[in-house]
Amino acid sequence: MILHRPIGAISFALRNHRRGMAYSARTMDPVIVGEDRRIVAPASDRNKQPILNRLLEIFPADAATDGRVQVLEVGSGSGQHAAHFAQGMPHVQFMPTDIAEDTFDSIAAWCAGLENVAAPRVLDCSSLDAWSTVPEGSCDGIFAANVCHISPFSATSGLLAGASRALRPGGRLCIYGPFTTDSGKHTSDGNSKFDCSLRERNANWGYRDVDTDMKPLAAELGLDLTSRFDMPANNFLLVFLRPG
Ligand SMILES: C[S@@+](CC[C@H](N)C(=O)[O-])C[C@H]1O[C@@H](n2cnc3c(N)ncnc32)[C@H](O)[C@@H]1O
Repeated sequence: MILHRPIGAISFALRNHRRGMAYSARTMDPVIVGEDRRIVAPASDRNKQPILNRLLEIFPADAATDGRVQVLEVGSGSGQHAAHFAQGMPHVQFMPTDIAEDTFDSIAAWCAGLENVAAPRVLDCSSLDAWSTVPEGSCDGIFAANVCHISPFSATSGLLAGASRALRPGGRLCIYGPFTTDSGKHTSDGNSKFDCSLRERNANWGYRDVDTDMKPLAAELGLDLTSRFDMPANNFLLVFLRPG
């Protein structure tokens, strides 16, 4: 493994690096960069199978309205999730996106040879103009992992608003990550400390609350929070339905 230049302004600004290993300035997760500019985020390796197990229930093969189940991913990052999910769900067509192109080499490296993954595209989920490039009602599913707490709230509100337009009736938005519940209750001390450290780093970042942020805003936008799955490492998978 060779550590290449830092991946850039947007995100994976790499710090404290030794050969082949660095730390994401945003998550403080270790990130390994390979010769093909493949990023390895160990957290994604740990959570990808538990998430896939849920996605298989949420997007079964018969959820497709037209050919494959069309799932757009927001904030794809390294591309590890897209690659793992595409292999585990051959009936799904994945469309990875991110706010900037810095990680697209990594997404391409992870997804090489997977014919059910589209080329990555730029999509800033906080921008309704950006969402207007996604045809209305074209998605059976939208998936985002670890985006809402490491971005301004406009990314979360834009994600919900964009999904309410891009999902077909009956489609589902799945948001994975750490959240508080019941007006700011943390699920662990570690989450509470991490939330504080995020807010110290950027006053606009921080955990969102399932009950006071996510559910009411989604409802205003016509999305129903139908499931809140407990996931390993005190994370949640929130599932929102665009009613049919
Ligand atoms: C912590 S990383 C998570 C990456 C990946 N989803 C995962 O769980 O391993 C957050 C990702 O969200 C992206 N992101 C941040 N703000 C965004 C926005 N407004 N629109 C789209 N993506 C955004 C970042 O570029 C980054 O790739």
